[in-house]
Amino acid sequence: MRIGFIGAGKVGFTLGKYFREHGIEVTGYYSRSIQSASEAAEFTATNVYTRRDDLLAASDVLFFTLPDKEIESVYRQVSQLSIRGKIFCHCSGALSAQDAFPNIDDFSATGFSVHPLFAVSDKYNAYRELADVFFTLEGSTEKLAFMQTWLQGIDLQVRIVPTAVKVKYHCAAALASNYVLGLLQLSQNLLTECGFSPDEAEKALKPLFCGNAEHFRECGLTASLTGPLERGDLSTLQHHLTCLTPAQRQLYVLLAKELLQTAKEKHPQRNYTSIARFLEAQLVNASLSCAKG
Ligand SMILES: NC(=O)c1ccc[n+]([C@@H]2O[C@H](COP(=O)([O-])OP(=O)(O)OC[C@H]3O[C@@H](n4cnc5c(N)ncnc54)[C@H](OP(=O)(O)O)[C@@H]3O)[C@@H](O)[C@H]2O)c1
Repeated sequence: MRIGFIGAGKVGFTLGKYFREHGIEVTGYYSRSIQSASEAAEFTATNVYTRRDDLLAASDVLFFTLPDKEIESVYRQVSQLSIRGKIFCHCSGALSAQDAFPNIDDFSATGFSVHPLFAVSDKYNAYRELADVFFTLEGSTEKLAFMQTWLQGIDLQVRIVPTAVKVKYHCAAALASNYVLGLLQLSQNLLTECGFSPDEAEKALKPLFCGNAEHFRECGLTASLTGPLERGDLSTLQHHLTCLTPAQRQLYVLLAKELLQTAKEKHPQRNYTSIARFLEAQLVNASLSCAKG
């Protein structure tokens, strides 16, 4: 299969290089700027296309490695051409294949979302890091198994995600990456309220956070849990809540409820009933005050 790319950005560079390194024929790149397309073509030893028609004609599969908001409109332009038998892929986690390539079946073509569960920030080096990365695949049922086999054949870990849960899947991914940064931001703010400068706070958080992340990588979620909740220390939890704003308290309690599940898995013999009751009561109080407000 010959693969072409519309959009020579971080993901286009990365997948193109990875495919080439795994013996796949990559035709080349079309992009908004000729400069990006030329750089990607040079990096992957493929071709630059100045016309989308020529890239389409030369390729069996087109990857739309574009910003999410551009994918559908570029697809609508490309689908004016003859796309019979072509396979279109995009890499957005948030969009389904049908969102991005509406009615693609009407053109006797197939569409997929192929999402790397990974933050690609270095377009020249990320291709080296794809071995551990999960790719989620969703789209046209008739060729789903074929696409899965093809991607697995080039050593990628592939999980099919039903279209109905694509949004939930993306929400899960965002929580584990972007939203963890939200927690770090809150923690940094609290440290600055304790007298740290923002830089100092960030520096202090790095070994704490990275040590935990490394532990998670090596031992998994349950083994990585430490702290007052794991120890069943209700009094410390109660003290923590006294120094937070009402909104922060809600976040703390919701996260503690999730952690309680992990703690019970880690220590099935421990009794966490008083903590569970306390957290439930906090949630009830919070929803009552929301209803009043
Ligand atoms: N980066 C990540 O961590 C990551 C992870 C997983 C999935 N994704 C998904 O991968 C896709 C691409 O993201 P990215 O990070 O690679 O974005 P990116 O680095 O911003 O690259 C997008 C490229 O698309 C080109 N482009 C924009 N509008 C265009 C148009 N109308 N026609 C042709 N080319 C156009 C831009 O071209 P010029 O450079 O020529 O101006 C740019 O190089 C998105 O769907 C994103 O959600 C990204």
